[in-house]
Amino acid sequence: MCGIVGYVGSQQAAPLLLEGLGRLEHRGYDSAGIAVLGPGKESRLRMAKKAGRVRDLTEELPKRFAGRVGVGHTRWATHGPANDLNAHPHLDTKGDVAVVHNGIIDNAAALRAELTDAGVDLVSDTDTEVLAHLIGRSEAETLEEKVAEALARVEGTYGLAVLHAAFADRVVVARNGSPLIIGIGDHEMFVASDLAALVRYTTRVAHLDDGELATITAEGFTTYRRDHGGVSAVPRTATEVDVDPAAYDAGEHESFMHKEMLEQPEAAERVLRGRLDERFGTSHLGGLEMDARDLRAIRRVKVLGCGSAYYVGQMGAGLVEELARIPADAEAASEFRYRNPIIEPDTLYVAVSQSGETIDTLLAVQEIRRKGGRVVGLVNVVGSAIARECEGGIYLHAGPEVAVASTKALTNMFLGFTLLALQLGRVRDLSIADGRRLVAGLQRLPGQVAEVLAGEPDLVAPAARLAEAESLFFVGRVRGYPVAREGAQKFKEISYRHAEAYQTSELKHGPLALIDPRVPTVAVVPHDELTDRNVGALHEVAARGGPLVVVTHAEVDLGDLPSQASVHRIDVPRNERELDPILLTVPLQLLAYHAAQSLGHDIDKPRNLAKSVTVE
Ligand code: F6R
Repeated sequence: MCGIVGYVGSQQAAPLLLEGLGRLEHRGYDSAGIAVLGPGKESRLRMAKKAGRVRDLTEELPKRFAGRVGVGHTRWATHGPANDLNAHPHLDTKGDVAVVHNGIIDNAAALRAELTDAGVDLVSDTDTEVLAHLIGRSEAETLEEKVAEALARVEGTYGLAVLHAAFADRVVVARNGSPLIIGIGDHEMFVASDLAALVRYTTRVAHLDDGELATITAEGFTTYRRDHGGVSAVPRTATEVDVDPAAYDAGEHESFMHKEMLEQPEAAERVLRGRLDERFGTSHLGGLEMDARDLRAIRRVKVLGCGSAYYVGQMGAGLVEELARIPADAEAASEFRYRNPIIEPDTLYVAVSQSGETIDTLLAVQEIRRKGGRVVGLVNVVGSAIARECEGGIYLHAGPEVAVASTKALTNMFLGFTLLALQLGRVRDLSIADGRRLVAGLQRLPGQVAEVLAGEPDLVAPAARLAEAESLFFVGRVRGYPVAREGAQKFKEISYRHAEAYQTSELKHGPLALIDPRVPTVAVVPHDELTDRNVGALHEVAARGGPLVVVTHAEVDLGDLPSQASVHRIDVPRNERELDPILLTVPLQLLAYHAAQSLGHDIDKPRNLAKSVTVE
C-alpha cells in the first residue's frame, strides 16, 4: 500500500528520499512525491509530485531542490483518482506545511466541508489534504502540538510525516494503525513505513505505537503520546534489527518472487532451528509464553489471517486438529470482527501474518483482546503491530519478503503451525513415537523443498499452457484443499487468470458442468487415504476433455486415463502425510510464476495489489 520516507541530516534529502521510495515500490502505488525544506533561516518548502512511477518523478525533478530535511510518499489511490494533484505531499494554503499520509481519514468529508466553509480552497480530492490545512491553521506553539491538535479532530487510521517551514530542523511523524519506523543514523535520522527503505542506511530502529508522535532531528528522536489535545514525552529505546540489507536486492534473479521461492529451503531451516526436540519428539516455542498446563487448558484453536495467510491458517488448523485432537478452524480475519464473535477463555486464538501490519488481522486481534481472549501470533516481521499486540507467538524467520505474492513466508507459516501443533499434541495424546516421526519429517523437509524447486525447468511448459486458459480449477481434498486454495490464489494474483479452488469431492455437485477442453484442472493428489477417490474424480474430468495437471507422489497410480487426455504429472517427494501439504504447495507457486512470466506480467507488482494491506 502507500509508502512513507523521511530524512533529516547533513546530506541532500531528495536523492535519499527517491532512493527510499524506490525501495517501497513493491508495496504497490500509483503516484509519488517528495517535499524538502530548503536551506537558510527563512526556509522554503519545495515540493514535486506526479502520477506514475518514482522514476518519472526523478526524471522531472526540478534542478533546484536543495534541502537536508524532507519527506516522500508513494500513494495508492483511495480518495480521488491517481493524478498529480491527489499525489502526496499535500500542502496547506500558505505552502508552509507538507503532509504525507498512509491510511484513511474516516471523517474527511465532514472536515473538508468545515474547511471549505471557513474559506479554505481545497485543491485535491484527498482526505490527507485536510490534515495539512488543520496543521497550518493551528495556533499551537510547537509543531508537535499543532500535529496533535489536528489529529484530535481526525477519526481513522494514519501513519504520517509532516514538514513545516517554521520548524525547519525536524520532521514530525504520527501513527495510528499504519506502520512507522524511525531509523537512527550518525547525526542523521530516517523514518519509513517499511524497513526496506531504511536498511541501506541503518539497522538501528525505534517503533512507534498507535497514538504516538515522534520528532526526528539530525541529532535524535523524541517520542510523545497525545494527551488532552497536547503531547507528553514517552521514553523509547532503539533496537538493532537483525537483517541483511542484501535481502532487499533481487540480485541475479529476474524478480523478488523468484528469489524468495528459491530461498525457501534456508528459510525453512531458520524457522525450525533450535525449536525441535528429537529426544522427546516435540518442539520448544519459548515465545508462546505458555507452559504445559496452559497448553493443556486449551479447548479450541481459532486461526485468523487474510488471503494466503488464511489459507495456510486452514492448513495449520488441520494440523492442530490432527496432531493435538483439539477442535480447530481458520477464519478470514477480515470477516471475524464484524460478526460479533463469541470469545471463549479456553480458546487459543492464533493470528497469522507475514507483514504483521494487515489491518483486518490487527483489528481482529484487538477485538479478541478487548473481550479477554488469549491471542498469539505467527508473524514474520519482528516488532510489527500484530507481533506487538499479541501476548506471545512464533516468529517465522523467513527473512524480508518483498514480492507481493507471498511464498517463503507461507512455507514458514506452515512450519510454524506444525511446531505449534506438535507442542499442543505432545502435552496431550500424541505419542512420543509420532512426535519423533514428525520431528524427523521436519528435519527432512527443507531438503525436500529444495528438490521440488530443482524441478522448476520441467514446469515452465505446463505453466505456459495453463496460462492460455481464461479460467482454471484447482482442486484438492481435506489436507489438499487449502493447498488448492493457495494454488488458485497465487495463480490469479500474478497471472490474472480466473482460478477457482474447489474440494475435489464437490466437483460433481456443480462445477463439473464447466469442464471442457478450454478449462484445465490443477489437482492435488497426495498418496494418502483419499488417493483412490481423488483419482476417480480425475477420470471424470478427463472424460469431459478437461486438461489436467496433477501434483502428486510417485507412488500414486493415475490409472488408465483416456489416451487423448491432456495430463501433466508433477511428482513431489513424500514426507509424513501431515507435512505433505507444503511440499505439494511449492510446485503451485512455480506454476503461477511461470504462467505469469509467459504472459509477460510484472510479477513483483501485480496489478491492483499491495504487499501489506493497512487499510480496511
Ligand atoms: C498472497 C498474499 C496476500 C497476503 C495477505 C495477508 O500472496 O500475499 O493474500 O497473504 O494480504 O498478508 P499478511 O500475511 O502480511 O497479513
